[in-house]
Amino acid sequence: MATPLPLAVLVSGTGTNLQALLDSVHGREAEIVAVASNAADAPALERARSRDVATKVFPRGDYADRPARDAAMAAWLREQGVRLVVLAGYMELLSPAFLDRFPDAVINVHPSLLPAFPGLHAVEQALAYGVTVFGVTVHFVDAGLDSGPVISQRAVELPDAKYSNTVLEYLRPLEHTLLPEAVRLFARGALSRDPANPRRVLIAPEETEGTVLRSGEAADG
Ligand code: GRF
Repeated sequence: MATPLPLAVLVSGTGTNLQALLDSVHGREAEIVAVASNAADAPALERARSRDVATKVFPRGDYADRPARDAAMAAWLREQGVRLVVLAGYMELLSPAFLDRFPDAVINVHPSLLPAFPGLHAVEQALAYGVTVFGVTVHFVDAGLDSGPVISQRAVELPDAKYSNTVLEYLRPLEHTLLPEAVRLFARGALSRDPANPRRVLIAPEETEGTVLRSGEAADG
């Protein structure tokens, strides 16, 4: 088997997506070599420590500004040999000081069908808007707010949904499937950009058969 991809995960909260990665791709296609957080009390950090993954906290207040913090975080990850960074509930924007160190190698999971409802409280935004279809997006990260090229999306119809907790119960399993699958594909070198439209992420054809990301019948149009 190929050498596992050295992976870092950035977290701020509970860490169920980190757990999904620890339980699926970790030690297989990828090796989670570092978990970084902006919040010392993020429960996700304990999930990493319990699997002997190196952790480090980069509180915003310890640095002159956000770019300085982001540069320090990127430097630490580079020292660990990281080649892909996954944002799994990391609740701050990353500045170019970070992104320029990992070009085309930062992935995020977001609980809406982007470009609808970017930013914080996506599910609450969707409920307030009155949508009946909710969903999840995994995408490459650029300097904007949840605005990078889409890798995969999955929708769920919940016409009677009223509460964000209920919606999130449906969305979590989708996140926990799509995010590890995107990491697997990245590790295999199966993700690329369409030269005709760099917003479009292409999946190598030999990988789409059986993948959860782009299975099913799709109209070509
Ligand atoms: C997820 O809903 C993810 O889409 C969003 O933040 C949440 C993180 O949840 N970016 P967890 O900490 O992985 O449980």
